[in-house]
Parts: sequence; C-alpha cells; structure tokens
Amino acid sequence: MGKLANLTVLLLGAVHLGQAASHSPYVQEPLTTPHKRIAIIGAGTGGIGTLRTLVRVLPEELSSGWEVVVFEQRRDIGGVWLPDLNSPRPPELPETPLYGHLRTNGPHPTMTMPHFPFKPYTNLYPHHSLVWQYHQDIVCHWNLSSYFRLNHEVTETRWVGTPEAGRWRVKGQNHGQNESFASDFDHLIVATGHNHYPHEPVILGLDQWKAAAPNRTVVHAIFFRDPADYDNKNVIILGGSGSGRDIANQVVRHANSTYVSLKFEPEDHPQLPFPRLPGLTIKKQIDYFTPHGIVFVDNSTISDVDTVILATGYEYRFPFLTAGGHLDIVSDENEGEEHLTTNLRRLRPLYEHILSLDAAYPLGALYVVGLPIYINSGFNDAALGLFVAYTVAFPHLLASRTELLEHLRADEASQRAAGLDPPYVGHRLVRPGGATVYQDGLVEYLQVRGLAGHPGVPPLGEKFTPPWRTYGMAHGGALRRAWTRVEEAGQGEVRRWLEGVETEEDWADLIARLVEWEQGVEEEEGTSSLLAADEGYVF
Ligand SMILES: Cc1cc2nc3c(=O)[nH]c(=O)nc-3n(C[C@H](O)[C@H](O)[C@H](O)COP(=O)(O)OP(=O)(O)OC[C@H]3O[C@@H](n4cnc5c(N)ncnc54)[C@H](O)[C@@H]3O)c2cc1C
Ligand SMILES: *[C@@H]1O[C@H](CO)[C@@H](O)[C@H](O)[C@H]1NC(C)=O
Ligand SMILES: *[C@@H]1O[C@H](CO)[C@@H](O)[C@H](O)[C@H]1NC(C)=O
Ligand SMILES: *[C@@H]1O[C@H](CO)[C@@H](O)[C@H](O)[C@H]1NC(C)=O
Ligand SMILES: *[C@@H]1O[C@H](CO)[C@@H](O)[C@H](O)[C@H]1NC(C)=O
Ligand SMILES: *[C@@H]1O[C@H](CO)[C@@H](O)[C@H](O)[C@H]1NC(C)=O
Repeated sequence: MGKLANLTVLLLGAVHLGQAASHSPYVQEPLTTPHKRIAIIGAGTGGIGTLRTLVRVLPEELSSGWEVVVFEQRRDIGGVWLPDLNSPRPPELPETPLYGHLRTNGPHPTMTMPHFPFKPYTNLYPHHSLVWQYHQDIVCHWNLSSYFRLNHEVTETRWVGTPEAGRWRVKGQNHGQNESFASDFDHLIVATGHNHYPHEPVILGLDQWKAAAPNRTVVHAIFFRDPADYDNKNVIILGGSGSGRDIANQVVRHANSTYVSLKFEPEDHPQLPFPRLPGLTIKKQIDYFTPHGIVFVDNSTISDVDTVILATGYEYRFPFLTAGGHLDIVSDENEGEEHLTTNLRRLRPLYEHILSLDAAYPLGALYVVGLPIYINSGFNDAALGLFVAYTVAFPHLLASRTELLEHLRADEASQRAAGLDPPYVGHRLVRPGGATVYQDGLVEYLQVRGLAGHPGVPPLGEKFTPPWRTYGMAHGGALRRAWTRVEEAGQGEVRRWLEGVETEEDWADLIARLVEWEQGVEEEEGTSSLLAADEGYVF
C-alpha cells in the first residue's frame, strides 16, 4: 500500500490542462484499487507495449485489482511481423503485408521498447524474423503469455450504458474452438494496427486497361510476397513510401522492365535509393490509363506495362467498432465531433491520436494505440502505454471533453495555417519535432499532473525520449547509407562494427559512431549534399 499512498498524496496536486500544479483542484483517490476489466484488441507491437505497461510498469498496488485480456485473432503474437502461413488471393486479404525479404526500414535500436535492446550482433537493419523474435522475447522476459487469448477475433464492441457509466460488450469468434464468445469490459484499448485494409486509389481508365488484355494484373502491395513472381513482367509500382521503394528495389532484379510512379519529384529526395537502381525508370504521377497504356501528368506515355503494383497505403478501418455502432465511415465534410468517425485516413475526434472523445461513453472508455505515422513504433508505444495506464488508474487526470476537443481543434487550426488539410494529413505527425515532441507531450501530460518520477515516468524537467533516439531518427538517411557501405565491405566489417555492442547505451553509441563515420566519408567523397538532404527524412 506504501506506493499507492504516495501516489495519492502526489495526486492531491493534480492539475487541469495547462494549469500550474499549485492551482490544482483537490482530488482524492480511493485507497483500495477498484476492480476493472480491460480489453486490449490486437497483440502486435502496440498491444504488447500497452499490456507490458499496464501489468508490469505500473506499481502493482495500482493494477492488482485489474483483469487485463488481450484478444488476438491470429495464431500467435507479433502483428505484422508474424508471417502468413498461406498466400491468399484477392478478394481474400493476407493477414500481414510481410514478405520474405523484408528487413526493417529503420535501425533497430530506434524501434525498441525502453531499456530492452535487440540481442548482441543483431544486424542494424534486421530481417523481419528477428523483429518477431524481439516481440517474443518481450513476452517471455515479462512473463506476459497468460494474458493473450489467441485465435480470438473480436467482431463487435458495443457500449451498454449511458454517457456517464456502462460497459463494453465485446463479442467475437474463438477460431480455435469454433465458438463465439462475449464478455464485458470497463475499458477498451484498440491496438489492431493500420496496415490491413488496402487503399486502392481510383485512377481513370484502369479497369478498362486491365480488361483489354488477358495477361494484365493490378495488385496491392499487401499481396507482394516474392519478387520472382515478376520474372519477365513489365511492372509499374505506384507510390514511393517504404513499401513502394522496397518492392521496386526487389522487382527490378527480376522484371523485364520496372517503373515507379511518384507523386513527388525524385530530385526532392536524393537520398532515396530509386535513382541508383540500374533498370528502374522513375515516372511522374499517372494521369490516366488507356486500353493501350499509361499517360502521365507530364504527357509522357508507356505501353509495355502488364503489371500494376499499388503501393498506395492502407485505410483506417475498425470493423468491430463500426459493427457496434461506434465508428461511422464518413466523407471529410462529415467527420465527427460528438461521435467517433473515420474518413479512412483518420479517426476523429481523438485527443492526441489516442483517446476517443465520443460523447456516448465516458472519457477513458476507449483508447486507440498505434495510429500515428512517421514514428518508430515500440518506443512510441511505451509512451502511449503510460498515458493509457495512468489515466485508467486515475480517470480524473483526463481534462473535460470540451477542453480536449479544444486541443484537437487548435492542432487542426495550426495545420491549416501551415497550408495542410487535417482530414488528409490524418495521423501523420506533421508538427515540428514530430514523433519526439508527440510522445514527450503525452508523458508530460502525466508529469505535470503529479506522476513525475513514478514508474516509467521521468522526473519533472526530464523528457521521455532520450536524445540519442531523436538523433537516430533524424539521421536515418546517413545511417542507412553507412550501413549499406558496411555490408558491401563484407560480413567481417559488419561483425567488426557490432563487436561488443550489448547495452542500450552501446547501441546509441554505435549509431553516433556510424553517422560520424559516414559524414567523414561523404565529405571526402564530395557527396556531402546527401547530408543536407537528410533533413525531413523519416527512417
Ligand atoms: C511491410 C511493413 C514494414 C514495416 N517496417 C517497419 C519498420 O521497419 N520499423 C517500424 O518502426 N515500423 C515498421 N512498420 C510499421 C509496423 O506496422 C509497426 O512497426 C508495428 O509493428 C505495428 O504494430 P501494431 O501493434 O500497431 O499493429 P499490427 O502489427 O498490425 O498488430 C495488430 C494486431 O491486431 C490483430 N487484430 C486485428 N483485428 C483484430 C480483431 N478484430 N480481433 C483480434 N485481433 C485483431 C492483428 O491480427 C494483429 O496481430 C512496418 C509495417 C509494414 C506493413
Ligand atoms: C508467469 O506467469 C504465470 C501465470 O500468470 C505464473 O503462474 C508464473 O508463476 C509466472 N512465472 C514467473 C517466473 O514469474
Ligand atoms: C463451426 O461451427 C459451426 C456451427 O456452430 C458449424 O456449422 C461449422 O461447420 C463448424 N466449423 C468447423 C470447422 O468445425
Ligand atoms: C501480354 O499480352 C500482349 C498481347 O495481348 C502481348 O503483346 C504481351 O507480350 C504479353 N505480355 C506478357 C508478359 O506475356
Ligand atoms: C522488355 O522491356 C522493354 C522495355 O524496357 C520492352 O520494349 C519490351 O517489349 C519488353 N519485352 C517483353 C517481352 O515484354
Ligand atoms: C499535356 O497535353 C495537354 C493537351 O495536349 C496540354 O494542354 C498540357 O499543357 C500538356 N501538359 C504538359 C505538362 O505538357
């Protein structure tokens, strides 16, 4: 009880949004832990990270009366990092976009949970199987397996109650036993990811082009598995984000001809590997298809393509919320204020991409973790987990719905002032400082409300994100070029760099040494313009 009593004392200093601690209202917490049932949906990085914080980081006195259950529809934990056992064809969707050659797009030390690095000698950009193993290691290290309900697909979540009080009725299918289940919870934490429902843009003439010859295919990147499937094909890849880049990189070694169509100018992104790949032709955005070929916005045309790969991203869909009447799919103009909606690019209204501000249930009844884009998951999920765990423990820490809505509107206003369209920007972290400022802000919310120095939460004045993580993200381009150079020099060189690197500090130091080394090499080579181009580069 000791720690809880301490917390209670500190919480006498709890404050409202933006107010100093000394002006705080008196808030008395009960000294016995209330019984709560908490459901997490999804056992990927987000679900595991939140679970770990709820049951292992929070003081036991706070969580001892809680029952936490993680529903996962697949055979095991790991989310996108758990491979598919079979290769479904459209319209059936794969369980993950993962493909055989996938390696991380960022260096693994920036993707970790706090103080839990990858194993010694792990390649800086590891194969996906090692990322899955990392998730498994977390589950083992913190003894979390008993919380998972595997093969449990949640199909409907419905609030039974009033805006002030009630419970979530969670319904689903236990695929292991082939039976349905239903259970009630106080809090729902949605961690089902956002790389599962392909976004296929409408392009003029595409269907007619496809129908005009029997050997033409249009396929979304979620189905991409093996570049050898594209032997002798003439392929165009739409999209230049992580998956578009990586798929192009592989397909160009197999296809007869390979094109990439980009919305942005490749000259604006000189650090992307596209221009250096022999055999790859970069095209502008597609204007339309004809039965004979493709017309681009610069009026150039090509006619030899037979395969279109849509590396065009994913839609934000949460079918169980929609089935329960809690998430309407709407156009941009009809996004929610009173009730949660999705325009397929974002959920609204959410406080800081995490807390539902829907008026049909109390604040804190529904959290969604893992929505932001342009972040390194893992560490970010640790920050989200803290926000969820401590606000579940101390609901009064959440300001009023009106105040939190005001915060959302202010954020949107500053996006518009910067010439951006919030419904389009969605969960991309476009604010200055990006992921670091975002996750530090969520933890600061707790720090200034009496939780500074409590488990997982740094003392006042100290940021959640250590500077080396921000440095690692900001130098993603240089790190990738450095590591490519190291790998080209052979396995001996790889081992030499990884020698003796064990602790989190060691990995942070390796990152700094690699960036410095690369900067030196590029200055010598006269390619230091690449360094300037790193600015704004994510991963
Ligand atoms: C190809 C690819 C490469 C990537 N590479 C990187 C990288 O290098 N670095 C990086 O930081 N990030 C990368 N990412 C982003 C990656 O998605 C995140 O790193 C992170 O793993 C996402 O975790 P998550 O838990 O939010 O979602 P997911 O991993 O998608 O996990 C969601 C889980 O929820 C389960 N689920 C969904 N619906 C239900 C339901 N109704 N009932 C029960 N369970 C359900 C799913 O089965 C899944 O296991 C990559 C993503 C992809 C697709
Ligand atoms: C792990 O958890 C299980 C189930 O909760 C428990 O029985 C076991 O004692 C735990 N093991 C360790 C080493 O803590
Ligand atoms: C699952 O149960 C349903 C009815 O409850 C039955 O129709 C179906 O055949 C069962 N499937 C399997 C794989 O056992
Ligand atoms: C696809 O079919 C067209 C004619 O319909 C033919 O010209 C072309 O060579 C074929 N491409 C492949 C890869 O088979
Ligand atoms: C191979 O690609 C070239 C263009 O790069 C194209 O002219 C030719 O028709 C293609 N051959 C086949 C068999 O598709
Ligand atoms: C493309 O062609 C159209 C019609 O001929 C013309 O109006 C337009 O200016 C051209 N665009 C470019 C970028 O050349």
